[in-house]
Amino acid sequence: MDEKKILRKEILNKRTDQLPAEIIAKSDKILALLKAFQPYQQARTVMVYLDFRGEVRTREIIKDLWAYGKKVIIPVTVLLEKKLLPVYLKDFGDLVEGTYGILEPKAETREIADPKAIDLVLVPGVAFDLKGNRLGYGAGFYDRFLPQLRPGVKKVALAFELQLVPKITPGPHDIPMDYIITEERIINCRLY
Ligand SMILES: Nc1ncnc2c1ncn2[C@@H]1O[C@H](COP(=O)(O)OP(=O)(O)OP(=O)(O)O)[C@@H](O)[C@H]1O
Ligand SMILES: [Mg+2]
Repeated sequence: MDEKKILRKEILNKRTDQLPAEIIAKSDKILALLKAFQPYQQARTVMVYLDFRGEVRTREIIKDLWAYGKKVIIPVTVLLEKKLLPVYLKDFGDLVEGTYGILEPKAETREIADPKAIDLVLVPGVAFDLKGNRLGYGAGFYDRFLPQLRPGVKKVALAFELQLVPKITPGPHDIPMDYIITEERIINCRLY
């Protein structure tokens, strides 16, 4: 098994070992930091994942965005093309289980978004270093999607402190994060 696979497994195990109450408490702290974060306050349209397998929870973030009249876009995984399709989310009731058991809007109600409409992206992942290098699940979905954003749109990873590692060696296709928000702090990756 290669180095990346070993690291991925190690961090995923640590993440899934957390109790639900712990995940909820940390996710609440991340939402509080996010609410005070200017790029989040200013964004009108935000792309955000729907958490699975012990990721930082995003339901409360989505409700917060809706409460401020903002538009929410979620990624739908298209396995055949190894790509993420950005789709508007208007109601949790529209969701069904899709690829990998991740929730996605029912095919009938899908309204596909233009990646250029996105003002801010909240990115999941397995592990990150402080420079913003990201280890994902190993298919390159986000690396294919992120280059479609408008230049200057901030890529903000949401992660638990236990997902931070000393160094991730990026490949040529890997897109780095601008910020990482954990339950303890907002990391500005440009400063590392
Ligand atoms: N923009 C791209 N164009 C073509 N191939 C790509 C691109 N980005 C990634 N890939 C391919 O996808 C594979 C997986 O990429 P990588 O190891 O970076 O996954 P990951 O970032 O961990 O996964 P994910 O983003 O899905 O969570 C790599 O072998 C790479 O060649
Ligand atoms: Mg990658």
